[in-house]
Amino acid sequence: MSTQDIEPLDIERIREDFPILERTVGDDVPLVYLDNGATSQTPEQVVDAIVDYYHGYNANVHRGVHQLSQEASIAYEEAHDRVAEFIGADGREEIVFTKNTTEAMNLVAYAWGLAELGPGDEVVLTEMEHHASLVTWQQVAKRTGATVEYIPIDGDGQLDMDAAGDLVTDDTKMVSAVHVSNTLGTVNPVSELADLAHEHDAYAFIDGAQAVPTRPVDVGDIDADFYAFSGHKMAGPTGIGVLYGKEHILEAMQPYLYGGDMIRKVTFEDSTWNDLPWKFEAGTPLIAQAVGLDAAIDYLEDIGMERVQRHEERLSRYAYERLSEFDDVEIYGPSPDQGRGGLVAFNVGSVHAHDLASIVNDYGVAIRAGDHCTQPLHDTLGVAASARASFYVYNTEAEIDVLVDAIDDARELFA
Ligand SMILES: Cc1ncc(COP(=O)(O)O)c(C=O)c1O
Repeated sequence: MSTQDIEPLDIERIREDFPILERTVGDDVPLVYLDNGATSQTPEQVVDAIVDYYHGYNANVHRGVHQLSQEASIAYEEAHDRVAEFIGADGREEIVFTKNTTEAMNLVAYAWGLAELGPGDEVVLTEMEHHASLVTWQQVAKRTGATVEYIPIDGDGQLDMDAAGDLVTDDTKMVSAVHVSNTLGTVNPVSELADLAHEHDAYAFIDGAQAVPTRPVDVGDIDADFYAFSGHKMAGPTGIGVLYGKEHILEAMQPYLYGGDMIRKVTFEDSTWNDLPWKFEAGTPLIAQAVGLDAAIDYLEDIGMERVQRHEERLSRYAYERLSEFDDVEIYGPSPDQGRGGLVAFNVGSVHAHDLASIVNDYGVAIRAGDHCTQPLHDTLGVAASARASFYVYNTEAEIDVLVDAIDDARELFA
């Protein structure tokens, strides 16, 4: 079924779940929240689940025989099952809770990269990587003597897959690519990249920070070896992220953090490790956040991820078309016909992105300005910064009109 055939979202109904959207900002103007790529808002259902946890069964997990600890442990473990089911993993063994996407990448870089990479080995990234992956692999390469290569982008902000075919060789040990670019909106051919990596016995790590919140994702279909995303971009709380890893790979990796709960047997001389995924979750974990993430998945699944994707595509097309009405607006990344995620990064004439974000803020519109943690990509685009509007399930075309009117006024101010 094409996403065009899917029934649209009942936005008015959805907005009732997000009381924050009713607030005003600045001079008592209604909030128009278009910074969802940075962090999405949190529905009542998720807040309620966290409150229920603190009111009803707050306790440490895996440490107590008392009832509260057992209830908290069950909720915490079941949150792993829920995430596994949501992204098509084989089971909780493949789901490690981290603080965020960044920590998930660092976990693999430290636990696998430092142990397995050496001089002559290559890590292949893309020019559109977020700093979370780019800086992390750069540092691991420095410490191990490996080198980092970048798959270039073409003029439409799409990966040059011919160049990728040349760059990935038998020296490549890891291909790490963003699924949906947080700056260009490009949706990358991640299963093709995973196939390419596997042809050369390399692993594929997919950064799904902008993908899991906005479209159905199945890590098995992609055949990703590792996949990461953050709860706070998908209607969940801050402070929780997910590392998916194929069980046999996680099994072979050494822990990243040491301490309580990740061990099986400890003596004065040595220690052995707990089963997956607990081997990678040292210390008191993110219990309330896991409960919140579980509720966020319930929330999104009730809406339906196909419908979320369709809504994102519709809004990004509308924003792209409205912004294209101005001949001095430059939009980065592919056209809607080429396929793009629910965000649009752009610049307006000679107006600095920060000035633009500050002016539209007076109209109540929250957008992001800066390099969006993709400085090297902005160098490639030949700009220091851009403005970015990013959408979620509660945004409307009317809100994009508010943004466009505010931009029009900003253009006149700077003319
Ligand atoms: C594509 C991408 N990767 C990684 C990250 C890092 O996410 P977090 O800050 O939650 O670790 C982000 C956040 O903006 C992102 O958009």
